[in-house]
Amino acid sequence: MRNASFFQGRASHEVPSFFVFVNLESPSAPPVSLILLSSMQDQLSALLAKAAAELPVVATRPDFEAAKARFVGPNGELTALMKQMGSVPKEQKPVVGKLVNEAKTQLQSHLDAALARIEAAELAAQLGPAVDPTLPSPDRLPGTSHPLTLVREEMTRILRKVGFTVVEGPEVETEYYCFDALNTPADHPARDAQDTFYLPETARFGNVSKKNPSEKYLLRTHTSSVQIRTMLKGKPPIRIVSPGRVYRRDTTDATHSANFHQLECLYVDKNVTVRDLKALLDYIFASLLGKDTKTRFRPHYFGYTEPSFEVDLSATHLPKVNKPWIEIGGCGMVDPVVFKDVGYDPEVWSGYAFGMGLERLAMLLYGIDDIRTFYQNDVRFLRQFA
Ligand code: DAH
Repeated sequence: MRNASFFQGRASHEVPSFFVFVNLESPSAPPVSLILLSSMQDQLSALLAKAAAELPVVATRPDFEAAKARFVGPNGELTALMKQMGSVPKEQKPVVGKLVNEAKTQLQSHLDAALARIEAAELAAQLGPAVDPTLPSPDRLPGTSHPLTLVREEMTRILRKVGFTVVEGPEVETEYYCFDALNTPADHPARDAQDTFYLPETARFGNVSKKNPSEKYLLRTHTSSVQIRTMLKGKPPIRIVSPGRVYRRDTTDATHSANFHQLECLYVDKNVTVRDLKALLDYIFASLLGKDTKTRFRPHYFGYTEPSFEVDLSATHLPKVNKPWIEIGGCGMVDPVVFKDVGYDPEVWSGYAFGMGLERLAMLLYGIDDIRTFYQNDVRFLRQFA
C-alpha cells in the first residue's frame, strides 16, 4: 500500500474511522476514503518534493517571492489542495486536515530557510569581503593629536606640576551654576537669549540636577560653572584646572566661533593674593610660549571676582604675532559673595580664578590666523601638528 508510511507508528485509536467506508459500486476496489487520502498524500508529497528541490536554489528576493506565490499564494499549489478540504467527507476532515497542516509546516520551513539564506547573502554583499581584525592594519598612518588637544594637554601638564588637579564639568548647565552662583544677576547681558543657547523647558538631563525647579538648562557659556560645582563638592584648599567646550551665540568669523574651548583655574586657600595669581599666570605662559612672554593685567569687571582683570600677553617672539599685547582671558580674586554662596567663610578663605580661550592660545603658539581651521577636519592642516 502506497500510504503505509502514514499509518506506521500510529496507535490503533488513531486509525481513521473511514476505513469502514467501502466502495459499493465495486466492492473489490479500495474504499473511497482511502483513494481520497492516498491521492491527497501523493499530491502533498509531490508538492513537498518540488519545494525541496526548487527553494534551495532560489537566489534572489524576486525569485523567492515568485516561488512563494507558486506554492502558497492565492493561486498556489498548496492553496489549491487546501481548497479541496471543502469536499472531504466530514469524518475524514481531521485526518486529511492534519496531513495538509503537516505539509504546510514543512513547506513553511523550506520557505523560511530559503529566505534566511537570501537575507544572509544580501547582508554579506552589503558588508563586502570578510575582514580579519587580527591582521595588522594596512593603514600605517599613526594619526596625530589635534592642535587644541596638544595645547590643552600641555596646559594641564604645566598646571599639574604646581599641584593643580584636572576636573570636568557638564556642557549642559543650569542657570544657577553658570550665572547665579557666580554673582551674575538675571539682568546681566550674558543671560540674554541673544548671547546664550537655552534648552527647551521640556528638556530633561538626568545627570545635571537643577538647584531650583524653575531654572532653565543652557549650554554653558564659560567653564567658570565648574568653580561652583567644585566648591560645593569639597572643602578648601582647592587647586583645580578645568578645560572644556563652551557655547555662545556668536556669528562665526576668523576669530569667533559659536563653540570653542576654555581653560578654567580656581585656587582657594588661606592668604592668597593677586601676586600669587600674577606669578602663576607668568609661570604658565612662560612655560607654554617661552620665557620671553610677558603678562599684564587690565582692570575689568566680572561678577565673581573682586578685583577683576583682563589678562594680556606680550609674545612678539612668536611667529605671526604683530600686536604688542593680546588679550587672552579674565581673572581676579574670588568675590566673597561667591564664597558665602557655596558655604565657605570669606574671612578665612581667599582665592583666585581665571579663565582663558584655548583656541586663542593655540593660534598664538602655532601662528594660526583663522579659528575655523580648528573645526574643518582638513588633514592638510592637521598633519602639520604631527
Ligand atoms: N568666564 C570668563 C569668560 O568666559 C573668564 C573669566 C574671568 C574666568 C574671570 C574667571 C575669572 O575665572 O575669574 O569670559
